[in-house]
Amino acid sequence: MGHDPATLAAMLSGAGFIAAEEETAELLECAAGDDELLDALIARRLTGEPLAWITGRISFCSLEIRVDPGVYVPRWHSEALARRAAQRLRRNGTAVDLCTGSGAIARILMSRCPAARIVASDIDPRAVACATANGVEAYLGDLLTPLPRTLEGRVDVVVGVVPYVPTPELPLLQRDTFAFESPVAYDGGHDGIEILRRVLTDARRFLKRGGALLLELGGAQDRALRPDLARLGYTDVSVLHDEEGDVRGIEATLA
Ligand SMILES: C[S@@+](CC[C@H](N)C(=O)[O-])C[C@H]1O[C@@H](n2cnc3c(N)ncnc32)[C@H](O)[C@@H]1O
Repeated sequence: MGHDPATLAAMLSGAGFIAAEEETAELLECAAGDDELLDALIARRLTGEPLAWITGRISFCSLEIRVDPGVYVPRWHSEALARRAAQRLRRNGTAVDLCTGSGAIARILMSRCPAARIVASDIDPRAVACATANGVEAYLGDLLTPLPRTLEGRVDVVVGVVPYVPTPELPLLQRDTFAFESPVAYDGGHDGIEILRRVLTDARRFLKRGGALLLELGGAQDRALRPDLARLGYTDVSVLHDEEGDVRGIEATLA
């Protein structure tokens, strides 16, 4: 296999990888001059394995995050939610990152609010191990269940990229998604909002009055959740959009 950057980029591009030049640069850096290793890394990438699992890292909000094989790869479209959560966090406040995966959002909160306490949870032991390796105080279990009870009523910010893809739409995700990743990271139940709904209810036990809830979602899910938000005592509900105007999340305050 030719090992010059142009040949490698052409090969990845020919195989359908859109960011072929950037990927080539990352793989070359990861191989650090070892051609045999480079061949192995490229062979893995050509199977469709996520690049971050191969290099073991990704940049999220300009911070390098370790990503272990099997753990959800943080997406650029979650960066705005992480930044917004950091803005809502008091200097020495407390935040919870639900469904933390690699711990990417928790890490952003930790770097932007170093005096704050940040805790996280995930149901997948590989995610909890990865988040822990990223320096996050991470707990294993369902949503808020494994968190220390001492935090009840004391949390300033609950943020989460929880699974929100409607089960019938899972087959529409990218071709290779479930060749590698687990549906557990994506499956939000029949209408996609089953886990979001549980979070709205359970977060109230941990949030203090005036605390913020920030959740990633898509499509018309913000509208579907409005009645729950009102019934459960959340106010100042706003919808977060990305640069293309697509709905990416909701922010609400516990009254
Ligand atoms: C879409 S990923 C988001 C990961 C991370 N927040 C990020 O943005 O990179 C969803 C994560 O939720 C976890 N998860 C799914 N169901 C869960 C549950 N009931 N309780 C806790 N974590 C859960 C999955 O293991 C996965 O790591």
